[in-house]
Amino acid sequence: MNRILFLVLIAVTLQLQSVYAQNAAAGEKTFKATCNACHSIGKGKIVGPDLLNVNKRRTEKWLISFIRSSQTVVKSGDPVAVKLFNDHNKIPMPDQKLTDVQIKDVLAYIKSKSAPATPAKATAATKKPAITPPSTATKPSAKTTNKPTVVKQDDEWIDAEYKLKSYPVQQELNPKDLNAAFWSKIEALKLPVSPQTLAYPTLQMPSIDYLTVKSVYRPMEVAFLIEWNDSSKSNEVDVVKFCDQFAVEFPLNTKVIPSYMMGNKDGMVHIVHWKAIWQEDCEKGFQDVQVKYPNMWVDVYPGLESYLDRSKRVYAQDITSEMIVETHATGNMPGTYSHNPMSQIKRKYPVEEANAEGFGTLATQETQQAKAWAEWKDGKWKLCVVVPVNTGNRYKATFTDRTKVAFALWDGGFQNIGGRKHFIPWVDLFFQK
Ligand code: HEC
Repeated sequence: MNRILFLVLIAVTLQLQSVYAQNAAAGEKTFKATCNACHSIGKGKIVGPDLLNVNKRRTEKWLISFIRSSQTVVKSGDPVAVKLFNDHNKIPMPDQKLTDVQIKDVLAYIKSKSAPATPAKATAATKKPAITPPSTATKPSAKTTNKPTVVKQDDEWIDAEYKLKSYPVQQELNPKDLNAAFWSKIEALKLPVSPQTLAYPTLQMPSIDYLTVKSVYRPMEVAFLIEWNDSSKSNEVDVVKFCDQFAVEFPLNTKVIPSYMMGNKDGMVHIVHWKAIWQEDCEKGFQDVQVKYPNMWVDVYPGLESYLDRSKRVYAQDITSEMIVETHATGNMPGTYSHNPMSQIKRKYPVEEANAEGFGTLATQETQQAKAWAEWKDGKWKLCVVVPVNTGNRYKATFTDRTKVAFALWDGGFQNIGGRKHFIPWVDLFFQK
């Protein structure tokens, strides 16, 4: 009898254990698919707070409501939720279409990862033993992690999943030389791309699976050779028509590794953004309205009569931006006239250098030094981007032997624009000797 009871007990315990393990395992899947981009468990803040021990600082009921719809809890005036929201630059955590069971599974996973002596914590602690005392003193210790939203970003290096080696080269980096000999000597790193589903407008249907990248560097420049499949070359912009684009992103320095999603407050990123529409301008001359709409008709062009010459059959619709940019830009092309880098009709390279420190903060840099060139052939883009670094300009990236780099990719033919893009989170970039 006893023995039977014993066996039953064992069976029940095993059952419970496996249910628990299964919950945490299911939770891990959900976490990695829906939370990972914004939250770590014990590795510091990303877009949202570190969730280590969140099960200890909040009740389960609160967590379920907050994870299901954080804004509902914020709007109800809940002081904890309001403070979290304000402390995170009012970035709303998107509503999660998850059942109670799924949320509980995720919480089981967070709890299992928060258990004392998690391997992640242990390696993080043992990895940085040789740090000088002052910076050790300011380091987050395992004991402080149950304080809500303590953000410690100094010297915050978390190893990324993918590692890219950059090799030194002597010769000048000319992005137009897409077949330079040194590229063929380097092995390409294949990186899977993900659809951006977190910030609006989101990408629901990815059309690109992966890209390959190689990297070389010189004292004040880092170059990337990137290739990806794109069956449609999209280099025009019109109503509901967008062009192919690519962006490379760096943290400004390696002391503060910001969110790869456009950086964050006090964590600015340096972005170099190539656009296929500008590539066309650079190759063929500014693609004016007349080029796109050869049959367009203009009756009057006030103030520009001096350009008209009936005897030479020059009519209002023939007046191009290039003609008026010299003499009539003040009134007719104020963006160009005021040197707005976005409104230039003559540019050397089809690329823009910008900075961001959070969603909606992207701003063009005053000093444009980046270079890029691309070629579309047989359903494939091949792009070379040369990024100025360590130049002393505080808006451009600074680093020594390593840094991080992230990538974004827009498939214009599939309506990609703004946040509706493919991306690759931080990749570790190592400079080889
Ligand atoms: C787009 C980014 C984003 C995603 C995706 C996201 N969160 Fe959040 N989360 C945040 C932000 C930002 C906050 C801080 C509160 C705010 O600003 O609304 C937060 C706060 C939280 C909190 C409160 C933490 C605390 O200290 O009390 C929990 C719990 C949480 N998120 C869980 C999750 C879970 C679980 C998922 C996945 C199912 C998830 N989040 C997905 C951005 C995100």
